[in-house]
Amino acid sequence: MRILGIETSCDETAVAIVEDGRRVRSNVIASQTVHAHTGGIVPEVAAREHLRVLDGIAQQSLADAGLTLADIDAVAATVGPGLVGCLLVGANYGRGLAFASGRPFIGVNHLEGHVYANWLAETALGEALPPEPELPAVVLVVSGAHSDLVLMEAHRRFRLLGRTQDDAAGEAFDKVGRLLGLGFPGGPAIELAARAGNPKAYALPRAALADRYDFSFSGLKTATLRLVRELEAKGPLPVNDVAASFQLAVTEALAEKTARAAAEHSVRTVLLGGGVAANLALRAAIERRIGHPLLVPPPRLCTDNGAMIAAAAFYVLRHPGTAIPVTVTSGLKLA
Ligand code: KG4
Ligand code: ZN
Repeated sequence: MRILGIETSCDETAVAIVEDGRRVRSNVIASQTVHAHTGGIVPEVAAREHLRVLDGIAQQSLADAGLTLADIDAVAATVGPGLVGCLLVGANYGRGLAFASGRPFIGVNHLEGHVYANWLAETALGEALPPEPELPAVVLVVSGAHSDLVLMEAHRRFRLLGRTQDDAAGEAFDKVGRLLGLGFPGGPAIELAARAGNPKAYALPRAALADRYDFSFSGLKTATLRLVRELEAKGPLPVNDVAASFQLAVTEALAEKTARAAAEHSVRTVLLGGGVAANLALRAAIERRIGHPLLVPPPRLCTDNGAMIAAAAFYVLRHPGTAIPVTVTSGLKLA
């Protein structure tokens, strides 16, 4: 079954075609650059930009796969969570495409998409796919807007273990990135700067939510701000050392709870998803602590893309369980 997946919940306009929830046939991603000079995403501008480029991206996705609309069995789009105007563009376009081609439309939860990115394989046609991740799994979904630690008991059965009480991990990376003059998005820039820095240079606080699986990053963000102001008063800012110390504090907090959850629930696998999962220091910190295989999608499948939406849609059809609303819902949860 070939599904065309559309993702427009934030600032990536993306369309992909995936076979049987796993084999990526094409994956076109356009990251909006119009927000660079505002230092953050302006929802109205983002929605208009999706509208401007989406049809071209969908055509490109079909062309890359060597397919036409007649070869597609279903159309899927993100219906939440995300910016409502942006979601509407992708979901309405997807519905139109499904209607025009007489195929079903499947609404997808963006967070399930980040989870199912772990099922994707960029394997050439005719070659065998790698084995599927084994369940149950502990999944850490860390993106620009979410930091959710969930137990995936079976396909599409998610139990929330913990989530951030304030900022999402990606949001903290973005804010500190801006503070250090590294631009937007901050995550990849901080990771790069941190490679040339000493993570032990400055001791930054970890939230004291010791016996729970929740996270909190706002105290760390404030402490980093204070540290930067103090250092600036003394001379040139040691950007690399601050970046490395901040990254260590975030990744240790995420890794420690993820590993503890995996041990407590005796899972078979630990999965990562969302843009922050692209961070190699985070992967290393988790791997050091667990005796299980850690599965992480390749970086371009960690950040927002249409392939993860097409993959999740396949499992929505197979495991109808938790219904996904037909209307776009900006605050949709994973569990
Ligand atoms: O999943 P995503 O593409 O969009 C949302 O659903 O939010 O995640 C974007 C977030 C941004 O906050 C970005 O700074 C962060 O992921 N990110 C990273 C890295 N690459 C992207 N954070 C840390 N290290 C990275 N290498
Ligand atoms: Zn995302």
